[in-house]
Amino acid sequence: MTTTAVTHIASLVTNDPSLGNGAPLGLIQDAAVVIEGDRIVWTGESSKAPATDNVLDAAGRAVVPGFVDSHSHLVFAGDRTQEFNARMSGQPYRAGGIRTTVAATRAATDEELSANVARYLAEALRQGTTTFETKSGYGLTVEDEARALRIAGRHTDEVTYLGAHIVSPDYADDPAGYVDLVTGPMLEACAPHARWIDVFCEQGAFDGDQARAILTAGRAKGLHPRIHANQLSYGPGVQLAVELDAASADHCTHLTDADVDALGQGRTVATLLPGAEFSTRAAWPDARRLLDAGATVALSTDCNPGSSFTSSMPFCVALAVRDMGMTPDEAIWSATAGGAAALRRTDIGRITPGARADLVLLDAPSHVHLAYRPGVPLVSAVWRSGERVV
Ligand code: NIG
Ligand code: FE
Repeated sequence: MTTTAVTHIASLVTNDPSLGNGAPLGLIQDAAVVIEGDRIVWTGESSKAPATDNVLDAAGRAVVPGFVDSHSHLVFAGDRTQEFNARMSGQPYRAGGIRTTVAATRAATDEELSANVARYLAEALRQGTTTFETKSGYGLTVEDEARALRIAGRHTDEVTYLGAHIVSPDYADDPAGYVDLVTGPMLEACAPHARWIDVFCEQGAFDGDQARAILTAGRAKGLHPRIHANQLSYGPGVQLAVELDAASADHCTHLTDADVDALGQGRTVATLLPGAEFSTRAAWPDARRLLDAGATVALSTDCNPGSSFTSSMPFCVALAVRDMGMTPDEAIWSATAGGAAALRRTDIGRITPGARADLVLLDAPSHVHLAYRPGVPLVSAVWRSGERVV
């Protein structure tokens, strides 16, 4: 198998706390990484790197693990520019806008939807994202949800069934009937195509009892739970996520002290989605409070046409540092190892021997520049599974 070394890396983020000064990022200065096939096989000081078939001289630039975007909604058609314009003129965000995208998505062909996913995926890759999760949730019929998951599965292994995004407009007068559909025939059709099950637990979407019924039914079919929780208001989502040992509670914008304590003690990751607060002009989630309570925090884009139409993990890192109380080191960890934890993965989000060779070479001497130089395209090269893709 071909071996490649990236040498003379000014600053390498490994996310191995046993390296460097013992901090979570496991920083190594003047480092090298050796890739063999799709795996990382060696990291260390550049002067000690073993001989390899190919060498790329990083010439004083930084390398970070590929970003792990653990929350996106990419199977959709159309956009909601008008809704965004209205919000920026003072209208609040309403989850009901989801219906606009449901209508456009149902009307689109498989090819159109798949091309859309590929387009946003390519966009994300150019910004350093090497793993992404994506969801259904804009179909809301048995056929349209199963179709969304099949299409998602062409692009990623991290596929989430979100039939419970909102009550389908077809069931406006019968929400209980919709929950029966989501936990019955729709689940039956969707479970073979997904790894995860998600529910939007929120006023105007699904309450705590409905969310519990949906996630429990999914679990019985072999899907692992994750939740859209406490985004627009306080509510039962976070506690339910911890109770069910969900991999992740996503949004976490409105948290009581008890919610924070639960996340600090459980292993459910708090996934923060600053693109949503940016794009809805809402108050920021308090990452500092969660970190100080001992919670594991992930950062993700939530890329969707309604509440957060960004595919950029560097943008989310910059927002989290500027407005959510995170240090640059914490934000980079959350966008890489944190995302991996939110997907219960240990093979990604780190640059350590045995991990998948997902690397981002930055046009900067340090990972800190991702927050220090917001909006600047600093991604210079990307390897995914050992293959140079940017
Ligand atoms: O994560 N919160 C629910 N779902 C999306 C928004 C979807 C939409 O507005 O289309 C979110 O923000
Ligand atoms: Fe979302």
